[in-house]
Amino acid sequence: MPEILYIKASPRGQRSYSVAVADAFVRAYKKKNADDQVVELDLFDTELPKFDGFALQAKYSIMGGQKHTPEEKSAWEAVEKTIENFKSFDKYILAVPMWNFSIPYQLKHYIDVIVQPTYAFNYSPDKGYTGLVTGKPVFIACARGGAYGPGTGAEAYDFQSKYLELILGFIGFTDISTLIIEPTLEQGPEIAEKKKSQAILKAEEMAARF
Ligand SMILES: Cc1cc2nc3c(=O)[nH]c(=O)nc-3n(C[C@H](O)[C@H](O)[C@H](O)COP(=O)(O)O)c2cc1C
Repeated sequence: MPEILYIKASPRGQRSYSVAVADAFVRAYKKKNADDQVVELDLFDTELPKFDGFALQAKYSIMGGQKHTPEEKSAWEAVEKTIENFKSFDKYILAVPMWNFSIPYQLKHYIDVIVQPTYAFNYSPDKGYTGLVTGKPVFIACARGGAYGPGTGAEAYDFQSKYLELILGFIGFTDISTLIIEPTLEQGPEIAEKKKSQAILKAEEMAARF
């Protein structure tokens, strides 16, 4: 039975636009796939492994082809557990706000923990970089206060959806569906609600093909 990891990167609960749209996606998905298990990972309610000191050295040891020292090994265990948990799922759903044109720090922390050589990607001089998380679809609901879509003139400021697509592509994802909810602030609450309702309808449609 497929298991889906639903990553929430907004701490705004019921007020969050990205979570409202991703929740609608999950509801629509569950309607069609009642037996599939959706597991929530609320990043603002989760203590992630610290990624400094010996854990960081452990990463460099892997990249340098060296064995872990006992200290690196024990620091690396928590990192390894987080990666293994991430990779154990069959499909992924992400709810992500734009913060300072990019993603919230908790999601960046999570990415810094899971994107590791030999676990999420490999490198060889002849082949270059190869992603290791393959054959799994991901749906991303991206909310932002302003508008950054084509024709807005602000496309270059989007380090949120573009970064997520890039880093997920880097570790092997090819089936990436992004749904943008914008603007959630810039044009007032009425427009924001309208955009949310439109995005929910679209999310329900996308869930049918997930
Ligand atoms: C710390 C912080 C930084 C933000 N930075 C931006 C930004 O750079 N550009 C933007 O358009 N909106 C920005 N916003 C507004 C959010 O993107 C907007 O409220 C969005 O709806 C958040 O997603 P959520 O509703 O799922 O929490 C920021 C909000 C916060 C809290």
